[in-house]
Amino acid sequence: MTVKKSNTAGIRIRRATLGDLGAMTALLAELFSMEPDFPIRPDLQARGLRLLLKTARAGTACIKVAADRDSGQVVGMATVQTVISTAEGAPSGWVEDVVVTASRRGGGIGSRLLAAITAWAQTHGVTRLQLLADRDNRPALKFYASRGWQGTRMTPLRISPAAAVPH
Ligand SMILES: CC(C)(COP(=O)(O)OP(=O)(O)OC[C@H]1O[C@@H](n2cnc3c(N)ncnc32)[C@H](O)[C@@H]1OP(=O)(O)O)[C@@H](O)C(=O)NCCC(=O)NCCS
Repeated sequence: MTVKKSNTAGIRIRRATLGDLGAMTALLAELFSMEPDFPIRPDLQARGLRLLLKTARAGTACIKVAADRDSGQVVGMATVQTVISTAEGAPSGWVEDVVVTASRRGGGIGSRLLAAITAWAQTHGVTRLQLLADRDNRPALKFYASRGWQGTRMTPLRISPAAAVPH
């Protein structure tokens, strides 16, 4: 196996706090600019992050950020939140919001973030992780595949309850 060089010694992976809200909202704008399914709405993203931080305090979610040790600047993030899987008979985890700021990609930060949320999942009884990636985001699909993630036969569907058509 070839081990790639990456130097993330200057990066600390830690739990997010309310003080990271602005940085995380900016990171999500970078991510959603690549995912046409999702709107860039900093107000909604900040509201969602506040909810997630609350859920994290309750122990069923985790937000990890990658921060530069010298400057304190947050340069990446990843989240995981649990749902009960009847198939697994255990919690499964939805991984979302995986992003490293453009100028710092390819240096090993994303791998450390993914490892950190995977470790959290393991210690919280999660037996399966899953995520959605844009079908055209080839670099991200390659990133996950080379870290053992596999495709499934399931297709995601969605609806807004307010727009649901009785049938
Ligand atoms: C995908 C992402 C989180 C990976 O983080 P990273 O710090 O760049 O990744 P690492 O340095 O730890 O690992 C490099 C791997 O990521 C891949 N990669 C994906 N996008 C990349 C990019 N824009 N630049 C450099 N490498 C990228 C590399 O090909 C490499 O894959 P390999 O190890 O299988 O050869 C990051 O590139 C990113 O934020 N991309 C844009 C947002 C995104 O696509 N998020 C995923 C949504 S599902």
